[in-house]
Amino acid sequence: MSDQYAVIGNPIGHTKSPLIHGMFAEATGQDLVYTAIEGRPGQFAEDAASFRAAGGRGMNVTAPFKLEAFAFATERSQRASLAGAVNAFKFEGERVLAENFDGVGLTRDVVSNLGCALRGKRVLILGAGGATRGALLPFLEQGPAELVIANRTVDKAQALATELRDHGALRGCGYQDLEGQGFDIVFNATSASLRGELPPVPATVFTADGLAYELAYGKGLTPFLRLAQQAGVRQLADGVGMLVEQAAEAFDWWRGVRPETAAAIARLTVPLC
Ligand code: ATR
Repeated sequence: MSDQYAVIGNPIGHTKSPLIHGMFAEATGQDLVYTAIEGRPGQFAEDAASFRAAGGRGMNVTAPFKLEAFAFATERSQRASLAGAVNAFKFEGERVLAENFDGVGLTRDVVSNLGCALRGKRVLILGAGGATRGALLPFLEQGPAELVIANRTVDKAQALATELRDHGALRGCGYQDLEGQGFDIVFNATSASLRGELPPVPATVFTADGLAYELAYGKGLTPFLRLAQQAGVRQLADGVGMLVEQAAEAFDWWRGVRPETAAAIARLTVPLC
């Protein structure tokens, strides 16, 4: 029988993970089946355990289960611990190994696919929730000149900056503190775009030669990307590359083979208009 993998979430109908992993498996000649499971609210542990008991080798976890997944793990990587969230499991006997590849996938997309090094750059990330938590450590490992977290609830940004202060130079602030400051790369890691909202970021944070990156995927030109475009930013991106790159990290972790990502990114790209 083929090795079994799955993504669990609720709702799960929109997931692209079976398509991505199916493409990876075909391209690398790996004998596996990857399915989608609609997890039941409040019963994450039971659902994950039954997939594992049926021979499952690994899982991806998506909303709303990332925190329950954290509790289900028996061992967590440093990045999963720092993110406070898990997006991939590997089952090895009694062990449930947990990882979070969102931040490393995002970093890989920016540096390798978009050709935009973080080293020495002034980097701004909007939001101080789970998406930001996952990104901070991989960003700091790249050695940016400056890393700033801006959040509506300023305390959350400052608490995050304090928590990670041993890993590099970063600071937390509110949106009004950004007046008069420019950045080479601006990430929108808030959930505002999911509701068509714009975080209250001043347009002066953008630089024309810089990059504006929306972590949400497939929403076209979100209010954040539109603001960046109007401010003259030439390079705009959404989270399609991040989505595919985090999947490639998980695939490599499970199978020991790193798949090419370009075909899956091309297949899933939704035009930014
Ligand atoms: P996720 O796991 O997707 O990061 P989250 O942990 O709920 O989700 O965090 C959502 C982030 O988006 C938070 O930083 C939130 O700001 P607050 O901490 O002040 O609530 C931010 N956010 C959501 N809607 C926003 C909006 N309209 N403008 C600015 N920030 C917003």
